[in-house]
Amino acid sequence: MASSSPLFEPLRLGPIEAAGRVFKTATAETRASEDGFVSDELVDCYAWLARGGTPLIITGNLYVAAQGKSTYRMCGADQDDKTAGLARLADTCHRFGAKLVGQLNHCGRQVIVGHTGVDEPVSASSVREPVMGARPRELRSDELPGIVDAFAAAAVRCRDAGFDGVQIHAAHGYLLNQFLTPHTNRRGDAYGGSFDNRLRLVREVVGETRRRVGPDFALLLKLNGDDLLPLRKGLHVDDNVAIARELVAEGIDAIEVSVGHYESGFPMTAGRFDGFYRELAVHGAGQHMDRMRRFSMTYFDRVFGALSNRLWPVREGFNLEYARRFKRELSVPVICVGGFNTRAAMEEAIRVGATDAVSCGRAFIADPFLVEHLRTGEPGPRCDYCNLCLARSGTGPVDCFNPTVRAEKEKLLAAKGPC
Ligand SMILES: Cc1cc2nc3c(=O)[nH]c(=O)nc-3n(C[C@H](O)[C@H](O)[C@H](O)COP(=O)(O)O)c2cc1C
Ligand code: SF4
Repeated sequence: MASSSPLFEPLRLGPIEAAGRVFKTATAETRASEDGFVSDELVDCYAWLARGGTPLIITGNLYVAAQGKSTYRMCGADQDDKTAGLARLADTCHRFGAKLVGQLNHCGRQVIVGHTGVDEPVSASSVREPVMGARPRELRSDELPGIVDAFAAAAVRCRDAGFDGVQIHAAHGYLLNQFLTPHTNRRGDAYGGSFDNRLRLVREVVGETRRRVGPDFALLLKLNGDDLLPLRKGLHVDDNVAIARELVAEGIDAIEVSVGHYESGFPMTAGRFDGFYRELAVHGAGQHMDRMRRFSMTYFDRVFGALSNRLWPVREGFNLEYARRFKRELSVPVICVGGFNTRAAMEEAIRVGATDAVSCGRAFIADPFLVEHLRTGEPGPRCDYCNLCLARSGTGPVDCFNPTVRAEKEKLLAAKGPC
């Protein structure tokens, strides 16, 4: 297959240039040591992706403070002694020509209390999170400079480790999204209420991070196209485009567009949900939830699965309509995540001008050599969006748990030889 395609054209993201337009989006790897240090198992994961020709890799979310750690074996960028391990990731990616961007996150209220050592989750306001069950404590205004510092200091550690940039995670209902969204932010101080007030913390995080990392380090942002919180005060695409515009003025170089909070359900990972809830309860994070949640996921698995299949069916480029709006109104590159798997759909999305680049999560979990396969036309293991990787996310090393696809992946990696 000819490789002349927009997918393999370079793309400038502020101070860096990616040698192509299919990126690996953030997928929590759950492969760090229990205390959040880079492990050999984590390095291997990136080595395969980089060797597979991926031009730009965004790490799974890295916690910026212990209080923001959402899952077991999550990697951290919260302390200086983690920098040497992070440097191993950067060296590995660079050895194969890939750029590395660290996704920085604080989970806020989206955590199972006690499971990762977070006994007192925090948020913009004390609004109960219905999926995990946490009732967070409202952050005091004198604690907010600490949040700003945690993000900026983590970015500096990534820069010192040799990363090419960081991505501030302000999507998916995590802490920064909790400040932006009126449903989760009911504060009466300067950080709640009006658009400007809800934006204040994220603006400070972005501004301070840019100030400390300097101009030669890429600063990306992950933002929802829509919060998808019907009957609650969620943000819609107009609000999010306005937020993006303000944050570009603070120094953001590119925006990745996604969707949803945890309490939206699973529009963020639209796919197939047959057996998903039982898997989540038995092998995934459900194991650490209360009995009532475990019971309902196990016994109503078929009902929940059928409903979810109808609500969130898989579709290539399922966030493209949002991305198109960002692209039309912003001066920086837009990256669209969501269901991308085939060369035709990716090329079409870029050719029609709906996005500048696409990013994929599950397609890379199934096939770390996805970019090489897109380039050569050789078939590779093909994700079927069964969501079993998601069901187990955060409890064991991320991988493909679909028996057919996993067998193909193992065959491929064995044929490639050791990394
Ligand atoms: C196993 C798994 C882990 C994920 N971890 C993260 C994460 O750490 N940070 C993040 O922003 N999104 C995370 N996501 C969401 C993905 O980044 C992405 O938005 C979503 O999977 C849709 O893209 P896809 O259809 O290409 O998989 C995760 C998704 C999966 C399946
Ligand atoms: S388990 Fe494998 S096939 Fe299923 S969604 Fe995840 S990567 Fe795709």
